Amino acid sequence: MSSAVAGRPPVPSAPPAAVLCGLGGWLPPRLVTNDDLAERLDTDDTWIRTRTGIGSRHTIEPGQATSDLAVEAGRRALDSSGDSSVDAVVVATTTPDRTCPATAPLVAARLGLAGAAAFDVAAVCTGFVYGLATAAGLIAAGTARRVLVTGADTYSTIVDPADRANAIIFGDGAGAVVLRAGHPDEPGALGPFDLGSDGAHEDMIMVAAGGSRSRPEPGRTSRADLHFAMRGKEVYRNAVTRMAESARTVLDRAGWKPADVDLFAPHQANLRILHSVADDLELPRERCLTHLRSVGNTGAASIPLALADTAARTPVEPGSRLLLTAFGGGLTWGSCVLTWPALSAPVPPPYQGEDTTP
Ligand code: UT7
Repeated sequence: MSSAVAGRPPVPSAPPAAVLCGLGGWLPPRLVTNDDLAERLDTDDTWIRTRTGIGSRHTIEPGQATSDLAVEAGRRALDSSGDSSVDAVVVATTTPDRTCPATAPLVAARLGLAGAAAFDVAAVCTGFVYGLATAAGLIAAGTARRVLVTGADTYSTIVDPADRANAIIFGDGAGAVVLRAGHPDEPGALGPFDLGSDGAHEDMIMVAAGGSRSRPEPGRTSRADLHFAMRGKEVYRNAVTRMAESARTVLDRAGWKPADVDLFAPHQANLRILHSVADDLELPRERCLTHLRSVGNTGAASIPLALADTAARTPVEPGSRLLLTAFGGGLTWGSCVLTWPALSAPVPPPYQGEDTTP
């Protein structure tokens, strides 16, 4: 007989923790080096490496789209989790296949997951952290037991190829994780989150036309309004401040000191930003993942891609402490902590070709 039937209220049980149990990444094979860009833009390898730390990036072929990358990354994440079923699929992206419908239902269907809940999260480069928080909430509420969270972007479809300020930074790619219900002490368990936004600065990072505010009109919409625009210097300053503040907030919530962090996985915006944030937190730079050297800024994909690349190339002790922090258009920012997972199967590298990192 339950205590409720006996007239007493049921003893509340702790909600399940979200535990990361699968990880995968995918980069389209086409590699664009800094020298390739210098052939058509007024830039050079030294400027790009010195100002951003980026050596190359990958781009899709004409006809490909974000879902193509998300499906590959998602398949790899499911494989590494040892179980191909989930209750929900979340795709964080700024470059959905279409304005309507969302990209996630298509990704779910192509992964054989039709029937699962599926929706997109739009928080620009913070999208993956927002997606993780959403998935962890679904698990804590008992709405889902297993969730696939994908960060996928094809900035090559929105950046003007003639815009040297942005064409050098962004690359295409996808990364994915599987979260399952579990215990907070297990390797892979997610801890607290910090999320925030400030829409007063929406024009700092923007594609002006294409939404309900400004439908594209043939002959009237300018080329600039159809493409991605960013006020680089202001974004840079905000990224450093917001990422450090958010990281500190979530470390406080977790009861961790910066020195407790074994691996720091920030959104891969610019090597100088990552080093400034690490320095601000007094975290040794060697603990900071710097996957952007070979892939650039891949938007919502950058954190899970960096994790997948690390899992494929470097042995990390399950239970090691991990700090994720991101910043992006909106403005949005967010951080969370977790521990390194124990995966059922090895994670293949997101890309098998030559690494152009110096
Ligand atoms: O994912 C969302 C978050 N995004 C970011 O965090 C990006 C943040 N911003 C940045 O990473 C940097 O601001 C950029 C990499 C975008 C630009 O670097 P910067 O050091 O802020 O350069 P700048 O815009 O101040 O430009 C310095 C100079 C300018 O020339 P003058 O005016 O000093 O003569 C630019 O015209 O560099 C010039 N420049 C370039 N030169 C060669 C700008 N882009 C290039 C280029 N190649 N690609």
